Amino acid sequence: TVAFLNGEYLPLSEARISPMDRGFLFGDGIYEVIPTYAGKPVGLKGHLSRLASGLSAIEIDNPYDDAMWTSIVLQLATENAQHIESGNVGVYFHVSRGTDTKRYHAYPTGVTPTVFAFAFEMAAPQSNSRSSAKVYKVALEEDKRWQRCHIKSTSLLGNVMHFQSGVKAGVNETILFNEKGLITEASSCNVFMVKNGIIKTPPLNNELLPGITRHIALESFKRANLNVVEEWFSKESLLDADEVWLTSSSKEVSPVIEIDGHVIGEGAAGEVWERAIRAYHAYKFD
Ligand code: PDD
Repeated sequence: TVAFLNGEYLPLSEARISPMDRGFLFGDGIYEVIPTYAGKPVGLKGHLSRLASGLSAIEIDNPYDDAMWTSIVLQLATENAQHIESGNVGVYFHVSRGTDTKRYHAYPTGVTPTVFAFAFEMAAPQSNSRSSAKVYKVALEEDKRWQRCHIKSTSLLGNVMHFQSGVKAGVNETILFNEKGLITEASSCNVFMVKNGIIKTPPLNNELLPGITRHIALESFKRANLNVVEEWFSKESLLDADEVWLTSSSKEVSPVIEIDGHVIGEGAAGEVWERAIRAYHAYKFD
């Protein structure tokens, strides 16, 4: 597969980065994952704007303008189409602070950010119908990450450890709650719940990532006149919900049918979910 490193397209197997790169030594960087289906990116503007705010938060100058980022996304999606026949291509990109000559915590001056991007096969888009939905079982545990979860940092050890708790429990995602027992997000997704026809998702703050899928979902639900609010909810309310959903670039809007062995609603994709995913699909391809 074809990748991009510091201005050049090259085979992924030939991409090389110094071990003195601060991305490697400190996890000092920002990343994005952009879904493309049949060569068409989803939420590209939102992803590029979140990348810009993340870089600004950690004081790295954005190495490229939006036109350049867009051309990298499109180029990687098209170039890799021959290997990824399904046409469901995720584009990952990563900007680290760059390579220094020494390992010293302070931001160095005069280093050039390292830019790396590659493409990978994503899951097919979520189904539009309850009977064939891809559903998830998840674990639940206290959020032990840092207090800057709104920054899409490449320092992902906290997320990785939470995700792994789920894997050990035989499921493939972990939903997280804060010290107050309120749901923040999941280790790699945002979380929604439905009770008595009302859709809820936690409001944005430093405890969760402002997911692009979350944003598109909220806009599309409002447009479809679904009843949706941004509001905190407890882990008890989550377990008592009629429906629970995860949102992310790769999962779109996906139903959760079991949390920590506890069955949610009817233990299948719900009725409100079906309306929601149809609203989402109708909106994002506008
Ligand atoms: N994960 N919350 C966290 C902690 C995430 O890592 C992600 C994305 C999301 C959803 O964001 P978006 O809708 O913009 O994809 C929420 C990506 C896909 C990943 O790390 O692979």
